[in-house]
Amino acid sequence: MEKGLFITFEGADGCGKTTQMELLAEYLKNNEKDVLLTREPGGKGLGEKVREILLNYNGPVSDRCESFLFLADRAQNIDIIVNPAVSQGKIVLCDRHIDSTVAYQGYGRGLDIERINKLNDIATNGKKPDLTFVFDIDVETSMKRVGKEKDRMESAGIDFHNRVREGYLELAKQEPKRIKVLDATKSIEDIHNKVIEIINEKLKNL
Ligand code: TYD
Repeated sequence: MEKGLFITFEGADGCGKTTQMELLAEYLKNNEKDVLLTREPGGKGLGEKVREILLNYNGPVSDRCESFLFLADRAQNIDIIVNPAVSQGKIVLCDRHIDSTVAYQGYGRGLDIERINKLNDIATNGKKPDLTFVFDIDVETSMKRVGKEKDRMESAGIDFHNRVREGYLELAKQEPKRIKVLDATKSIEDIHNKVIEIINEKLKNL
């Protein structure tokens, strides 16, 4: 049986990570790989209900409550969707994961990063992605792409989103082997080619 892989896609809202994830899935399937797509928040089932609260709830939400909801969804995604698929030799592509919580709740909301790392570790039971792409984009361009219809997180303001971006870049500096930063202002095709290059290198060294 082939060895499974867990790959995560990260970056600001509007950075194009979902498009790139879908393009990569197509590429891998065309190369006879067994691929599974999931996302956080909201893989499927219970996760979808948590996503609905996180993105659309209108009342006040405490920063720690917000973190716990993302973490609860993460535990569900890892246990019910990611781990079973990886152990069957699948390549699992996940739209957002642990680094989103460090970037958004840590750098963005200002919660203690050490504590978030510990909570992430509990939510994932210690599992880390084999590879992570960060699609880096300036806040002005990303907000233009998101447009006027913003959800609760997207409405958090320019300073918040600048801190999120800095958070991702800092994480990539700390873990250069796992986290690869790509310029999200390039064309879809250029970015896709770069993603494929990195994936093929990873598959070669499995
Ligand atoms: P996303 O699925 O990328 O939104 P969309 O499909 O609408 O583009 O992400 C949902 C939002 O949740 C996004 O603004 C980032 C935020 N988020 C956090 O703040 N912390 C987290 O741990 C995760 C997973 C997401």
